[in-house]
Amino acid sequence: MKTATAASTQTDPVAQSLAKLLANTYALLAQTQLAHWNVEGPDFFALHEAFQKQYESLFEAVDEIAERIRALGHYAEGGVERFAAASDLSPMPAGRQPAKDFVAQLIDGHEKVSASAKAVEDASAKAEDLETQDLAIKRRQEHEKTLWMLHAVLK
Ligand SMILES: [Fe+2]
Repeated sequence: MKTATAASTQTDPVAQSLAKLLANTYALLAQTQLAHWNVEGPDFFALHEAFQKQYESLFEAVDEIAERIRALGHYAEGGVERFAAASDLSPMPAGRQPAKDFVAQLIDGHEKVSASAKAVEDASAKAEDLETQDLAIKRRQEHEKTLWMLHAVLK
């Protein structure tokens, strides 16, 4: 733990990378829920259920990431408007589109979130913060697993 008093994440590269991961994970959670609602077609039941499992898992992840920021002595950023401004994800169209397009957009989202988890992994390795590094590695493992499943849908 670096500081006893809560501070802005801007002053600490580990907390800064966690703040980015938090915003990206929240954006992906919202997009996965949108895909859960709007997906259509012959694979509806399978995708509707898979997307629900994924957004539930992302919901638990955002809590873990935000609480790690707090454990490091910083405040977490929150609110959908702040997450939207800080996120790297491209907006997902809200209307009708083929199921494979939802899957392709979620693949892009998981790749971006996984890249921001890699940034956390690197920043925490440099700071010798093994606990945050462990969290980042677990986040990447989860995104890699979901990417494998989403790619399998497109084959
Ligand atoms: Fe639902």
